[in-house]
Amino acid sequence: MSTIEWQPAYDVQVSRFDEQHKKLFQLMSDLHNAMKEGEGQIKLAEIFNALTAYTTTHFSDEISLMESMNYPGTAEHKAQHDNLIMQVGELNKKFVKGDGVVSIEVLNFLKNWLVTHIQHEDKKYGLFFNSKGIY
Ligand SMILES: [Fe+2]
Repeated sequence: MSTIEWQPAYDVQVSRFDEQHKKLFQLMSDLHNAMKEGEGQIKLAEIFNALTAYTTTHFSDEISLMESMNYPGTAEHKAQHDNLIMQVGELNKKFVKGDGVVSIEVLNFLKNWLVTHIQHEDKKYGLFFNSKGIY
């Protein structure tokens, strides 16, 4: 896996969510580094838990703003978030069993999912929020 970094192409034009996305990439990078350095399963689990917890918080923040602004795509967007959380939960069960290969798989999956989601779905709400004066 190449380096995990937030890219300007992921900018959704809503600063609070761009900051949260940057933090998610930072946490994924921390996890990747810990894997490369051969950190133990406990340390990896700790970072992974921080990452999943922050993902959940971030998702709630997005949905809260969508709801308060009556964003038309809220239900669909929330369904995507719920689906990701469910899939990560499944992968985490394997991860907890201690298969090191699975942790890379989890990280790859999460990174690819986020990049695609941000570039398609999140950018849509960006345009909507901007039209309501939220940047
Ligand atoms: Fe989202």
